[in-house]
Order: sequence, then structure tokens, then C-alpha cells
Amino acid sequence: MSSHPPRVFSGVQPTGNLHLGNYLGAITRFVTLQDSHDCIYCVVDLHAITLWQDPKELTHNIREVTAAFLAAGIDADKHIVFNQSQVSAHAELAWVFNCVARMGWLNRMTQFKEKAGKHKENASVGLFSYPNLMAADILAYRATHVPVGEDQKQHLELSRDIAQKFNTDFAESIAANGHQGGFFPLPEPLITGPATRVMSLRDGSKKMSKSDPSDYSRINLTDDQDMIAKKIRKARTDPEPLPSETAGFEGRPEAANLVGIYAALAGKSHEEVLHDFGGQQFSVFKPALAELAAETLGPISTEMKKLMAAPDHIDDILRAGAARARAIAAPIFDDVRRIIGFVS
Ligand code: TYM
Repeated sequence: MSSHPPRVFSGVQPTGNLHLGNYLGAITRFVTLQDSHDCIYCVVDLHAITLWQDPKELTHNIREVTAAFLAAGIDADKHIVFNQSQVSAHAELAWVFNCVARMGWLNRMTQFKEKAGKHKENASVGLFSYPNLMAADILAYRATHVPVGEDQKQHLELSRDIAQKFNTDFAESIAANGHQGGFFPLPEPLITGPATRVMSLRDGSKKMSKSDPSDYSRINLTDDQDMIAKKIRKARTDPEPLPSETAGFEGRPEAANLVGIYAALAGKSHEEVLHDFGGQQFSVFKPALAELAAETLGPISTEMKKLMAAPDHIDDILRAGAARARAIAAPIFDDVRRIIGFVS
């Protein structure tokens, strides 16, 4: 099984309001992995339409996620950046996986329950089978490592189950077609760093999210310096000073969250941040955090604006990336067709 060469794949949905959680939990990890791995980073527009999207906004948001990737430091020449709908293997393999995954597996997905809400009967079929498409994204390239935030862990486990079941269901045919070991790798989630689950600035028990109705709950990658400072100033906290050790975060989710954000932005551990700020009031810590956030995110939002002013250039990058992605995925999907027994 370990015979699969290492390859990184990850994706971000173009659903607007790209935020600090996406940046710290995912995009900064994408950037780091470029030095050690071949990486494929995808703007997952097929996933986005599992909830209705305004067509004009969708187009804008696809370009905006691409701009964020590039502004954060992803190198689209060395690695691959593209949007999912341009490579048909994603949808084709997702159909195969619709026939491999079991209803019971998908019924357990907490994200579906959250997104479908009380009116499950009205949710799109796509929202229910969403994790199968995610498995297809990864396995279309036989990717081995997937950097994601904590909230995607369950989906990654499902991807592993799908890969495993495909390998078992078709074991004989896989061997007959000359493949040693399992055809698909069991992709490993990479959930690392001090900010794998950035929480809302308004409520430390809720994840920072694109869909939160309050804009003050999140720092958007498009926010300017003043807005970042204002949102941090208004962030919910408690009246106590910061603890000196991480054990002191018990029952203080907002304090833990702000320290986690600081740690991730500064490239430090929670302990190191508490070493510097333990015992200090939020009136001291918040301005330091605001300054650090503005310093780190300011150049990214400026660069995003610049890139967004030249949409044709972004589209060229996506088209070129899609061609390279197709060249990897097409022969893998041809193997899948042979393994399943399709005639071509
Ligand atoms: P999406 O678009 O919701 O989020 C993109 C990435 O950001 C991470 N993230 C967070 N990390 C820390 N704190 C937060 N508050 C936070 N919110 C979001 C997510 O974990 C994710 O890594 N299903 C995926 C997209 C996807 C995908 C894939 C990912 C589609 N196919 C294949 C990996 C591999 C999603 O909705 O991410």
C-alpha cells in the first residue's frame, strides 16, 4: 500500500467570505507543503453548487479563492492550481464512488446534518453525496496526503473507507490488471498546527464559518487593516487576564481561540504566546493581535485585489492547471474503467 508515491491534494469551496480559519487551517499548510511534495490545489466549484449559488457570484468566488491561493504564496507553475469542474474525472469517479459508498456511511456525516438542518427532505442529493465527490477529488490523482482543518476529518475517514472498499471489491480485477497492492492509497489527513479549528470571534463554541450571518464572527481575507483591528477589538472575551499555562484555558474558549490565532500567525506554540502574554489583560493582548493580523494578512489582501483586477490572467492559470490535472487523472480513470470492466 505504501508503494504509492507521495502526492498532496486539497480543496477549498468558492462560496464567498474566505476567512482566517480557511487561511490558518488550510491555505498556510498548502504553502508549507510545496517545499516537500508535489501538490494539487483545487477550487471545488462542483462542491459549491450542492447549495444554490448565484452564477455571477460563483464566477467571482472561484477567481477569489484562486487569488487567495496565489497571494498566500502557492506557486502555480511548480504545483497545480485549477477549478474542479474543468476536469471531468472528478464527476466520473464520484459516480463510481456513489456505487461503492453505503447509505449508512453517508447518513453518519455530521456536516450533512448541519448543512441540511431540519429540512433534510429539501436538501439536494448532491449535498448528501458530497463526501463521495470529495473522495473522488483526492483519489482521481491517487493522492496520499490531504491538508485540511479539523472539520474535514470525518470526510477524510470516509475517503479512506471508500478507497479500502474499492480495493477489496475489485481486488481480483486490480491484480489481473497488473496493479500491485491496493489500487487506491488510503489518503492521510494532515491536520496540524495551532489553528486546525479557528472559532467564531463572537462565540468561542462555534467554528469560524463562511456562512455565519455575522460578519464580525470572522476575519475575511479581503478585510482591510482597520476592519481587522475593529473585529479583534470587538471579539468576545472574558474579564480575566490571560493564563500563564494552557491548562488555564479550561472553560475559556474565547481566550484559547485568540491565543491560537496569535500563535498560528506568529509561527509560535500556545505555550510560547502565553510565556509572552500570560497575566496580561485583553486590553494589552488584543492590540498586539490586531497588529500582527494586519501585518500578516494586509499584504495578502492587497495582492488579492491586484490579482482580481486581472481576471483573464486568473482564468489562464486555472485553464493551464486543469490541463495538467487532466493529464494525471485521465490515465488513472482509464485504469478504473478497466478494473470495473467497462468496455471502451
Ligand atoms: P471549506 O471550503 O469549507 O474549507 C476549506 C479549508 O478550510 C478549513 N477550515 C478551517 N480550518 C480551521 N478553522 C476553521 N474555522 C475552518 N473552516 C474551514 C477546512 O477544514 C478546509 O480544509 N469539503 C471541503 C473542500 C474539499 C476538499 C476536497 C478538501 C472538497 N474536496 C478534497 C480536501 C480534499 C470544504 O468544504 O472545505
